[in-house]
Amino acid sequence: MNGILDAILQRRAVKVFDPVEISAKLRGQILNAARHAPSSFNAQPYRLYWVGSAAKKAAVAKLCLGQRPAETATVLVVAVADIGSLAATTQGQLEWMRGANFSDEKIRDYERTAKIGRILFMPGPFGIFGAVKRAAFWLLNLWMTIGMPPLSRQEIFKWATKSTSLACQNLMIAAEALGINTCPMEGFDGRRLSQYLGLSPRYHEIVMVIAIGKKADAYVEPPQWRRPLQATVTVL
Ligand SMILES: Cc1cc2nc3c(=O)[nH]c(=O)nc-3n(C[C@H](O)[C@H](O)[C@H](O)COP(=O)(O)O)c2cc1C
Repeated sequence: MNGILDAILQRRAVKVFDPVEISAKLRGQILNAARHAPSSFNAQPYRLYWVGSAAKKAAVAKLCLGQRPAETATVLVVAVADIGSLAATTQGQLEWMRGANFSDEKIRDYERTAKIGRILFMPGPFGIFGAVKRAAFWLLNLWMTIGMPPLSRQEIFKWATKSTSLACQNLMIAAEALGINTCPMEGFDGRRLSQYLGLSPRYHEIVMVIAIGKKADAYVEPPQWRRPLQATVTVL
């Protein structure tokens, strides 16, 4: 367990990388750690694009505004919030439950929850359904304690971004633990990068790009500053 803490505390956003060989095994370990992150409703609403071939990596680095970490990285991972994956995910989990001999009752429960989730997460044409649901939830909330589900497409993307970001953090910590360095980046041309990857603005939003490589020998990290604990934590 201390190894995990070490990886968390040692990780830095590295700005210059030296080339490094990333084996298929290492790639598998890093990506596997990413998908083990917790996600809302276990929906895992993301897709990670591993860009490792030289030509594609160069093209994506350019769309990351030519930033040094992107240009020098061995691999770029584009983390995309994917709200078009929800139906297939539910189907996949149902198949897994059937194969793993879950009781009929548990399967029915899951189907019911998935159906409610589908209704809640459907903004409908021009967001009309979302607006109706918002009014209904607002009224309900006047007399009972309820959580507000994401209703508009924008809110659903925000919902998916949380889970995507957790997968990204897992990826970076796993890479660090395995001796590889990273830099998360949100400096990129989202429209062009989406087009390059063939993404649909209806279902996909790029959350961040993670540069992966080996910290350059010549690169000197600046000292790491964090706000003091009492500025970021409230103990009640
Ligand atoms: C969401 C996000 C976006 C970031 N975008 C960039 C970026 O575009 N370019 C960059 O060089 N660093 C980027 N960073 C890295 C931060 O600058 C870095 O994490 C921060 O300065 C703290 O440094 P440390 O991670 O080494 O502790 C980003 C970090 C996060 C979490």
